[in-house]
Amino acid sequence: MNVMTPATAAVTLGAKGLTLPLATGNAYFNYHWLRDNDPTSFDAGTRERSFDIFHLDEAPVARTASVDGDALVIDWANEDHTTRMPVDWLEAYADGSRRDDPADLPRRPWYGDHYPEVARFTHAEVTSDPARRREWLEAIIVEGIAVIAAMPDSDEGLTSLARQMGQVRPTFFGDYFDVKTHINPTNTAYTASALELHTDTPAEEHAPGIQLLHMRANTVDGGRNLFGDGVAAANGFRQIDPEGFRLLAETDVPFYCEHDDYDMRSWQRIIELDQHGEVSGLTISQHMLDLMDLPQTFLDDWYPAFCRFGKLLQDDKYVMRFTLKASECIVFDNHRIVHGRAAYTASSGDRHLRGCYTDRAEMRSTYRALVSKGRFKR
Ligand SMILES: [Fe+2]
Repeated sequence: MNVMTPATAAVTLGAKGLTLPLATGNAYFNYHWLRDNDPTSFDAGTRERSFDIFHLDEAPVARTASVDGDALVIDWANEDHTTRMPVDWLEAYADGSRRDDPADLPRRPWYGDHYPEVARFTHAEVTSDPARRREWLEAIIVEGIAVIAAMPDSDEGLTSLARQMGQVRPTFFGDYFDVKTHINPTNTAYTASALELHTDTPAEEHAPGIQLLHMRANTVDGGRNLFGDGVAAANGFRQIDPEGFRLLAETDVPFYCEHDDYDMRSWQRIIELDQHGEVSGLTISQHMLDLMDLPQTFLDDWYPAFCRFGKLLQDDKYVMRFTLKASECIVFDNHRIVHGRAAYTASSGDRHLRGCYTDRAEMRSTYRALVSKGRFKR
């Protein structure tokens, strides 16, 4: 906290806002913002803003403002109201940066040798112990992947796990999907063929953020699981091929998913960047990339870059290969982690994966609630 003395605490009033001297220098605050974020503008019960700035007859303007102890005190000109705001609270917003987010943790890229280090938990731990649940969600945020062991052998096992981070998020396939060999497959996953590295449902406008795959049975020959960290691969690509990286990070490309009763389409970027300009993930699927209806001369550059990146993504440097055992559930960030499967022999045994999704935003919400007090518990 900055210590201010009355002698240095003169507040300067302007037409649209005021200037407050802080230890870090003068900071300007807009009157609308100050009035709207007055602590009394919020209902303690609902924690929502109860003050309605639309109902002010005139724009808020300070009649007087001064620092009193550790608070800024504003007497408003057009309203019978006085605002008291803690100066240390104002300091956090002085530079216009985003509100502190405990879920905005740095990602830790991982490589093909990561399997022994993958964060592991049991179903019982994350459903009964908030500390373990917090560690699990932190692993999903930081590394994008975790394994849950000792799953109940039931449909409810997956549902109860998903609800530890959010609600089950339907896609146009429904609430859940069962990956087995189908007699009339509508999706490559429902065959025994190899499934190249991809993220799921890229044709949806907002593809689900978290995928959960519960291995219910796995006695087939083959079918090893493949997982790669899109952040590690895209960061590697950025270093060796900055122009290719730029093309994949700046170009919206079409994805589709089509059969008799649906024709889903969307435009996505292969490499996704976050608000810091860092790689946050990928949207990639060879089998759901639509006909590229972009100028052919542009494709002279885009396609080679796409192929260079696709080859890099499949490099052993980036791909973990292992067999997910029956009773294990792998949970991963569908916008970051690419997954695939080696071919297997359908007649050699049973293989049944039950999957569903939740959203990243809900997962982060749960994480914040576990680790922070929120803005109303100062
Ligand atoms: Fe998939």
